[in-house]
Amino acid sequence: MSKAIIVGASSGIGLEVARLFIQRGWTVGVAARRLDLLQTIGAADVEQIDVTSADAPEKLMQLVDRLGGMDLFFYASGIGKQNRELTPDIELATVETNGLGFTRMIGCAYRFFAQQGRGHIAAITSIAGTKGLGPAPAYSATKAMQNVYLQALEQQANARKLDIRFTDIRPGFVDTALLSGSFHYPMMLKPQAVAREIVSAIEHHKHIRVIDWKYRILTAVWRRIPRCIWRRIKL
Ligand SMILES: NC(=O)c1ccc[n+]([C@@H]2O[C@H](COP(=O)([O-])OP(=O)(O)OC[C@H]3O[C@@H](n4cnc5c(N)ncnc54)[C@H](OP(=O)(O)O)[C@@H]3O)[C@@H](O)[C@H]2O)c1
Repeated sequence: MSKAIIVGASSGIGLEVARLFIQRGWTVGVAARRLDLLQTIGAADVEQIDVTSADAPEKLMQLVDRLGGMDLFFYASGIGKQNRELTPDIELATVETNGLGFTRMIGCAYRFFAQQGRGHIAAITSIAGTKGLGPAPAYSATKAMQNVYLQALEQQANARKLDIRFTDIRPGFVDTALLSGSFHYPMMLKPQAVAREIVSAIEHHKHIRVIDWKYRILTAVWRRIPRCIWRRIKL
């Protein structure tokens, strides 16, 4: 493994993961919309990609060509907002980025690895996909979709005898721009620490990694809460 492409590397968790892979001597290509930020990371190559745009797969493949191949596709792009008023623009933009954008880019990487005969797809989803979260309906629903999509691809790859590995990374609250705003978030994690756990999970070929241990306990409890109680909980 030596060549990684990181989509969503311009800030937050994706940026920290890119830095770690560069430090480890990987050849790293980075992408996102904010080209100026990407250019400061010290990656081998950069590409401006908007995952909501139809030309995003073509741009990803151009980056792969320039890098001379791809062993790891790491997907960190995403948006998320609390939306208790259910403002349509917020809900629809979230579905467009986290649903359509995710499907577009993960699908492109999967087809590339299927043709190549091997590869590793890792994506940051979230613990928010564990249950429907009232304060952020589109966010939690799209994260659940991402969890299930990766599970489906993993099964399909096995059935097709493709040597493609998958790592579904599910962090709890992380101190990044995504959570900036007036809300208070408990049990906040540092993006650098989260990035270290992510790289370790990828290196150890983990299928699913909830970050960190406190959130592993929390999600295990959440999963056991029956629907008749869950719908009465105020988050
Ligand atoms: N922060 C948390 O508490 C938390 C918890 C669990 C999971 N996550 C997930 O972690 C991932 C990274 O988020 P973060 O917390 O690191 O937030 P962040 O700092 O806001 O990073 C988001 C990244 O996604 C990219 N992005 C957003 N829309 C894009 C688009 N249309 N096309 C291409 N790239 C796009 C951004 O780049 P540009 O704006 O330059 O395009 C940026 O690099 C997200 O999927 C998020 O849902 C975050």
